[in-house]
Amino acid sequence: MNEVREGGATHRPHQGSRLAIVILAAGKGTRLRSRRAKALHEVGGKTLLAHVIASAEKIVAPADIYAVVGHQADRVRAAVAHTGISFVEQAEQRGTGHAVEAAKDAIAGYENIIVLSGDAPLVSSQTIEELWQFHQAQGAAMTLTSAEPEEPTGYGRIVRGSPDSHEVTAIVEQKMLAPGQHAIREVNMGMYAFRTAALLRHLGRLAPDNPHAELYLTDMAHVLSAAGERVVAFRTDDASELLGANTIAELVALDARLRTATARRLMDSGVTIFRPETCVIDSEVEVGPDTVIDPFVQLLGHTRVGSDCRIRSYTVIENCTLGNGVIVRQSCVLAESTVADGADIGPFARFRPGCEIGEMVHVGNFVEVKKSKLAKGVKAGHLAYLGDSEIGAATNIGAGVITCNYDGVKKHLTRIGAGSFVGSDSTLVAPLTVGDGTYIGAGSCITKDVPADALAVGRARQVTKEGWAAARRAKHPPKEQVDSKSRRAS
Ligand code: UD1
Ligand code: CA
Repeated sequence: MNEVREGGATHRPHQGSRLAIVILAAGKGTRLRSRRAKALHEVGGKTLLAHVIASAEKIVAPADIYAVVGHQADRVRAAVAHTGISFVEQAEQRGTGHAVEAAKDAIAGYENIIVLSGDAPLVSSQTIEELWQFHQAQGAAMTLTSAEPEEPTGYGRIVRGSPDSHEVTAIVEQKMLAPGQHAIREVNMGMYAFRTAALLRHLGRLAPDNPHAELYLTDMAHVLSAAGERVVAFRTDDASELLGANTIAELVALDARLRTATARRLMDSGVTIFRPETCVIDSEVEVGPDTVIDPFVQLLGHTRVGSDCRIRSYTVIENCTLGNGVIVRQSCVLAESTVADGADIGPFARFRPGCEIGEMVHVGNFVEVKKSKLAKGVKAGHLAYLGDSEIGAATNIGAGVITCNYDGVKKHLTRIGAGSFVGSDSTLVAPLTVGDGTYIGAGSCITKDVPADALAVGRARQVTKEGWAAARRAKHPPKEQVDSKSRRAS
């Protein structure tokens, strides 16, 4: 198994596991007309391959998961490394049969393997599970999964031994169909189970005798059946699971389908989504019951939203965790941050990565927060920048307050205690510590630490010269005012 590389953390080969799942993901995806490998294209906010891995991981039987990678192999590996699956490399892509051949050392130790297409993201763990059960019950050398989609054109067709037996004698690809076979409506979904010994014994018989000169895994149906091995079809009702992303149009249609399904899943669990067709919600997103999502909201990545929240229109939330009873008003952009219960955010607030927003905090209009901790009840209502800061409970941040966190070389921390009041338009030059219960006068530039309970004012003293403006006007009468005065007089 020397060509197998372990991916990373979560998925470890099961001790004594008898089943491997091999996901074919080496193809370029020529019909996508993209420079990016097919497996890397995203639907529902996740790569095609990641969807297939997620379904494979959920089956009950312990199974080791392998992906066959080839085109842009390093990038594909990196994109799904977090799942911990193993990889096999198919350096040159010479067909689905050739891809399985590339994995033959890796699979040799398993009694059975399941083969999935890395470009069919709707495949469900339930269907994989049923295929696996059927394969075992039938004692077959090869079990393929079939369905009857409304439009069978383009798919491999199933040739059965007799109409009412499970047995299959061949799968015939579209371009190889004999005249009488165009009428066959039952198609190959591209998911198979094999008894590994039978597969490996006969795999060498695949021949590139087709218009693309490739080795087709589908030809194993005929090869095994002709060799007297049992080949059967497991027929599913849900033909949609076979939908692949072969073109951008198909990819976009799959994305819409997945997002509709995600919105549906959330609504079924008690989330109100008004005009769900306008919202973009990634597959992994979780939302608690009684939360209301307004039109044109985007919830992306691993975002978790608690219950009883309200997310208003045009807000985009990516990889954030929100507690319960949080309101996010219109047009906020929140990324990689946590927001505790009862917080009131926006409109027009921006959280850059690394914010920890406490309970009942209010962050309002045009406030940008980056890598900052705002304790319970902090208020920053308007036009502030809080970067690399820690702000104690119930402190009030006035309009236009700025933490000057960057000296051109390094970032520095600003600490402000609890129960303090930072006057409007103050600049706090970090590194800086301001104690609890302090007042900072409006318009201050604070460069030195402020002890608890102090008042700090750092601004030029006001000079007032009485009569100065009137004297100036008398000397240089402003033209416009003269005109308007004369107009009023006339
Ligand atoms: C395949 C089946 C077809 C079936 C359809 C269902 C074959 C010959 N045909 O056609 O009967 O109806 O799936 O969707 O298998 N791949 C590799 N290495 C290669 C070639 C392909 O890893 O050398 C991967 C691709 O990246 C893809 C998967 O195998 O993820 C399927 O290949 P694809 O070319 O999409 O096959 P289809 O034309 O869809
Ligand atoms: Ca395909």
